[in-house]
Amino acid sequence: MDAPESWPCKRHRWALAATPMPRRPRVFDRWREAQNEPKASKAIALELERTMSDEDSTKSGPDLTQGVRVAGLADGQMLTGHVGEDAVLLVRRGDEFFAIGALCTHYHAPLAGGIVAGDTIRCPLHHACFSLRTGEALRAPAISPAGCWDVARIGEQVFVRTRKPTVTPSRVAHQDCGSPPKRIVLVGGGAAGFAAAEMLRREGFEGSIVMLSEEASPPLDRPNLSKDFLAGSAPEDWLLLTSADFYAEHKIDLRIDLKAVKIDLKAHAVALAGGGSVAFDRLLLATGAEPNRLSFSGSNSPQVYTLRSLSDCRAIIARAASARHAVVIGSSFIGLEVAASLRARAIEVDVIAPEARPMERILGTQVGDFLRRLHEQHGVRFHLQQTVKSIEGNRVTLSGGEELDAELVVMGVGVRPRTDLAESAGLKLDRGVLVDSYLETSAAGVFAAGDIARWPDSYSGKQIRVEHWVVAQRQGQTAARNMLGKREKFDAVPFFWSQYYDVAINYVGHAESWDELQVEGDIEARNCLIRYKHQGRLLAVASICRDIESLKAEFAMEGEALTA
Ligand SMILES: Cc1cc2nc3c(=O)[nH]c(=O)nc-3n(C[C@H](O)[C@H](O)[C@H](O)COP(=O)(O)OP(=O)(O)OC[C@H]3O[C@@H](n4cnc5c(N)ncnc54)[C@H](O)[C@@H]3O)c2cc1C
Ligand code: FES
Repeated sequence: MDAPESWPCKRHRWALAATPMPRRPRVFDRWREAQNEPKASKAIALELERTMSDEDSTKSGPDLTQGVRVAGLADGQMLTGHVGEDAVLLVRRGDEFFAIGALCTHYHAPLAGGIVAGDTIRCPLHHACFSLRTGEALRAPAISPAGCWDVARIGEQVFVRTRKPTVTPSRVAHQDCGSPPKRIVLVGGGAAGFAAAEMLRREGFEGSIVMLSEEASPPLDRPNLSKDFLAGSAPEDWLLLTSADFYAEHKIDLRIDLKAVKIDLKAHAVALAGGGSVAFDRLLLATGAEPNRLSFSGSNSPQVYTLRSLSDCRAIIARAASARHAVVIGSSFIGLEVAASLRARAIEVDVIAPEARPMERILGTQVGDFLRRLHEQHGVRFHLQQTVKSIEGNRVTLSGGEELDAELVVMGVGVRPRTDLAESAGLKLDRGVLVDSYLETSAAGVFAAGDIARWPDSYSGKQIRVEHWVVAQRQGQTAARNMLGKREKFDAVPFFWSQYYDVAINYVGHAESWDELQVEGDIEARNCLIRYKHQGRLLAVASICRDIESLKAEFAMEGEALTA
């Protein structure tokens, strides 16, 4: 189902539309209703625009209830059609046929652009994985199931019939080892904490779940804070990871704005700020990371911000409303995403960073140069190999002596894992909380996931810690199953994405250094695959507009990790 060759970017090929359409939230709202998505479900209108050719596109493709010729669909082939108002994807796998909702439940990318692996389908955008048999979202970042329809083969035709009921968990908690937990406490209301809570209930756990979060908001789509939301193109209600009712409906005791201050491993209790404690049989630490702050004269001025939480983001947006010039300190992912989003607000942006090129250490020199040019084309000015010397009033002075105006300064200079709780409890640390392949810390029954966890990565064979949304969620899911007694190794290959303007970079694997970098395609043309190798072994793959190849790389690396 390739889109026309004339499309500027292969990334867009999965879209059903022949030409990009203007933003139309009205279509999105109707679509969302049709998909029975909770109101707070996030979606990026940009993706939707690529998906929708016109207001009637929910009915694009054939009516699958009228039958499709078996011979017209080869093994592994997909066909997007509709059943009533629902867009449905018909997939052939050998002699079996499956019908699943055509859009991913994460940001609603068309699944037809993904790959089929066994009886699962993987989303082209951020690599979520759904069961073709049940629609269940098997791997984050999608959490909600996709719709699933019955399919009947009659002679040489297949017919899509009625929609199956949404998957309800039928799995019983695994009790392979240890006594079954009754009380599970999750410290952290971010990616890992939320995914763990949701998975515990999905796995059939009926005991008590307490989720403690120091943040003032319920779990939210943190990556969006530096992208569409900061740019002003996504409303705040898209940020929440689920509906407000979800927690009560699933009996998850979410306590926001509440800090856990101490873990008593002997008493199996977490002490809370302001007094009181919560007892646990199993504990998950998912405390994430906090932004670094540089220290220089004026670094605590009121116009200087860091970005981690919704309140940080709201404060930046409020300041941006009256700012004409912004300085972004740091040229890594968050710094560059913030720069792009502030440009969308027509604010002049200067980026200051000590490196010679943005993201060179992570993505290499060619991508670094490309990113610099990309941002410069959008009006960003770079001041590289420099640092900020001081801020006085609205004047920012650089190490080279140059002075810049800035009513707004955002520091995007890395984060550090929030390990204080783990450290005071005496857990083993190594630039993060050390966990085994089951994500269990040095204390039995205490698990860690997300930005704080350093785990034995099956693919690289090294202990690594990363700061990726999808990794945090998948670790939360694995930790949840292991807290219930299942012995499941965390063997997902790390994946992250980053986005600036209309360019998204996907990255699979983990390469702290490499001795060979191969570029396939054309970075400038925004159509490339970059392989990072060490001594001939593939460590990581970055891609622009090569979603299928990125998915295939992840799949191949996983296969290798599993057999390693
Ligand atoms: C602006 C921004 C954009 C990003 N964009 C991307 C992206 O595009 N792609 C990508 O892969 N990754 C991205 N990331 C990184 C990604 O968001 C993190 O890797 C992910 O959120 C980590 O999940 P976590 O659960 O470990 O931590 P978090 O999501 O940070 O959650 C940690 C939670 O623990 C709470 N907490 C901490 N200490 C305590 C305590 N003592 N008591 C109670 N609660 C506590 C915190 O308040 C927070 O709620 C981005 C991050 C930011 C900040
Ligand atoms: S849109 Fe499918 S994983 Fe994000």
